[in-house]
Amino acid sequence: MLEKMAEFFEARLHMYDEHMLNDIEGADLFYPFTAECLPKENGAYVLDLGCGTGLELEEYFKINPTVKITGIDLSEGMLNALKEKFTDKEITLIQGSYFDVPFGESKFDAAVSVESLHHFTKTAKLPLYKKLCASLKDGGYFVLTDYFAPDDEYERFYQNELIRLEAEQGITDSEFYHYDTPLTVAHETEALLEAGFASVEILHSWENTYTIKAVK
Ligand SMILES: C[S@@+](CC[C@H](N)C(=O)[O-])C[C@H]1O[C@@H](n2cnc3c(N)ncnc32)[C@H](O)[C@@H]1O
Repeated sequence: MLEKMAEFFEARLHMYDEHMLNDIEGADLFYPFTAECLPKENGAYVLDLGCGTGLELEEYFKINPTVKITGIDLSEGMLNALKEKFTDKEITLIQGSYFDVPFGESKFDAAVSVESLHHFTKTAKLPLYKKLCASLKDGGYFVLTDYFAPDDEYERFYQNELIRLEAEQGITDSEFYHYDTPLTVAHETEALLEAGFASVEILHSWENTYTIKAVK
């Protein structure tokens, strides 16, 4: 059964960190790697899309404890868990969808997203990435660490599966339901370039998880 996005994560919150860190291939490496890619300057402004309980931020604060984070997440439970972990850090948390929340203009030195955007199609991401690009300062960049489809057939299969499951379960509302529909790296790159990013580079990969850097 498909579950609403926030409810899916909240039902698993008690074991979320342990599951991500122990069961996801490469997680012990990709969280620190992602953090290493983010700005090291004192007081840098960084936006986190789908920050969850803050696993990437845990690593990032070790490298840059003075960073000013804006974190957006649909799930209040995930955000509460994050808040409890980092009581002494400068964090602004926004509960909502990153498709709807305004990001502002030329505001952030960088943005990051880990294991969140693989739930959405290229069509949905295009306006999001335009908004994201506009919110970055000149020369600012976006570090995306996420799960990607190995080929077009895999990408198409899971997108069609989601449509089939929604129809089967009579889902007609426009809410987000949790189901993995990863794009290929090629399609993600196209979306970022079409949205206005000047360059996109693959920095690393671990099985199907890649870190991609898109520079404004
Ligand atoms: C697998 S978790 C990743 C959390 C964190 N980045 C990490 O790596 O541990 C995915 C997160 O994305 C959030 N999310 C999914 N769709 C979202 C949306 N449209 N807007 C904001 N957050 C969203 C979920 O609520 C969840 O907390």
